[in-house]
Amino acid sequence: MKLDMISINFTINGEKKKLDIAPGMTAFELIRDRLELKGTKEGCGIGECGACTIVVDGRAVNACLMFAAQLDGREILTVEGLDRNGELHPIQEAFAEKNAVQCGFCTPGLMMSARGLLSERPHPSRSEIIKAISGNLCRCTGYQSIVEAIEVAAKRPVASKKE
Ligand code: FES
Ligand code: FES
Repeated sequence: MKLDMISINFTINGEKKKLDIAPGMTAFELIRDRLELKGTKEGCGIGECGACTIVVDGRAVNACLMFAAQLDGREILTVEGLDRNGELHPIQEAFAEKNAVQCGFCTPGLMMSARGLLSERPHPSRSEIIKAISGNLCRCTGYQSIVEAIEVAAKRPVASKKE
């Protein structure tokens, strides 16, 4: 390992990883550039659009605002880890059923915000859903179908499962 590198261990989408990284690398760069998980999108890069949302230890966070080093010892979920053995997660099913996707750029981030919400609040109210996705910008849908999709997903038993 080079002197200016640090070593981190984490689990991502159920897989354990040990990597040497530069101290200034962001979680976004680690996930998208190093691990090539391209579902996590970059919109603003400054914590304002939510396109880069991932779930860390059950909570939705902006990957562009975290250092990769902060992922050491944590459990990370990206949109690639939402399905289980090819079966869509209830959030994915509900987004499709409610036509909550148009161009799709915001969709992974919104799904991860929904995932974080349902981990913390398995039966959220409509206002809790709106608050949970308030950091996710969508230029296409008008949000109504997204809120409805999360309401539908919340009624399905496995939607809030932590793993
Ligand atoms: S890219 Fe992270 S919040 Fe916009
Ligand atoms: S579906 Fe296009 S930005 Fe949300």
